[in-house]
Amino acid sequence: MEPQRHDTIHQCSLTSVRILITGANGLLGQHLIQSRGQGTEILGIVRSKDSTGSGVEYETRELDLTQFSKVVRVLDAFAPEAIIHTAAEGRVDAVQKRIDEFRKLNVELPALLSKYAKDSGAQIVHLSSNAVFGGRTESYSDYSQFDPINDYGILKAEAEKSVMEQNASALVVRPILMYGWPQPSGRQNPVTSWISNLREVKKIRVVDDVWTEPLAAWDCAEAIWCALDTEMSGPLNVSGGVKMSLLEFAHAVASVFELDSSLIESGSSGDFPTLAPRPGSTSFDLKRLKKELDFHPLSPLEGLEKLRRDESAIAR
Ligand SMILES: NC(=O)c1ccc[n+]([C@@H]2O[C@H](COP(=O)([O-])OP(=O)(O)OC[C@H]3O[C@@H](n4cnc5c(N)ncnc54)[C@H](OP(=O)(O)O)[C@@H]3O)[C@@H](O)[C@H]2O)c1
Repeated sequence: MEPQRHDTIHQCSLTSVRILITGANGLLGQHLIQSRGQGTEILGIVRSKDSTGSGVEYETRELDLTQFSKVVRVLDAFAPEAIIHTAAEGRVDAVQKRIDEFRKLNVELPALLSKYAKDSGAQIVHLSSNAVFGGRTESYSDYSQFDPINDYGILKAEAEKSVMEQNASALVVRPILMYGWPQPSGRQNPVTSWISNLREVKKIRVVDDVWTEPLAAWDCAEAIWCALDTEMSGPLNVSGGVKMSLLEFAHAVASVFELDSSLIESGSSGDFPTLAPRPGSTSFDLKRLKKELDFHPLSPLEGLEKLRRDESAIAR
């Protein structure tokens, strides 16, 4: 039997370390900052300070990360002992057919940060994605061959190769469909957007032919802290460990948040011909996460229940 996880356990924490986090306003960036170890000194890179607002005190720097000379100046001044690179263009449909526009941000920048980390002796964590895999295989191990089926996945695969070529000590974390409360001005994720729509009694159409393993953003953050703690390197698959269709997941959201599931319409990927193709079914073999890190993520149902409790706690 697997060990039980509880809500607020923060098992791993780096202390007294200077950490630079890119994408600090993003979903994962915010969860990393909220769960940082005591005494860590964080510099969060944000595109705009206007959208900063986690309620947690930390230093931020406004920076367009495609301006590489400025990036290097910030790195030199802060001298991080660890870099966690979450920033990217993560909207799969925005990248599709515009691959060359996003190569600088999604590939050249992680390569630069990885080299900088190697030269300066810092640890680096680069955020990749399950999108490096096309869903053609029953289960993907940490070391499976890439077979992306959309432009976002192609760039993530190129980035992984470049990051590891520059620095064999780099850690490449591959999350899959993350959910969590974003900060007020942050990008919605499928779960929070389904909740908003169902609360407004709006119908939602959700596909039943895309299978995934939803991951709580706070678990991804904690897995990263654990991996940094153990100085893990190479690729690391991270997921919620339970495969379900998006339609099943939407029904789980309605059930946990006590919303009207009759508003959920079943669709298929063919109903959305303008969107980039998605892997039909992605399942991760979580060997490194569970065996090497002894990390056991919350199942999607447990995660949604925590999400609801967290919302009630914020509201009180
Ligand atoms: N969310 C998922 O389901 C998922 C799944 C697999 C992999 N990933 C990967 O995991 C990482 C974190 O995901 P996330 O959901 O936390 O992403 P997110 O919420 O979209 O956050 C990304 C952050 O990067 C910032 N950014 C983008 N371009 C920038 C630039 N040129 N200069 C400065 N900042 C810039 C964005 O700033 P603005 O807020 O100003 O746009 C945003 O705050 C990403 O690399 C993503 O590709 C995510």
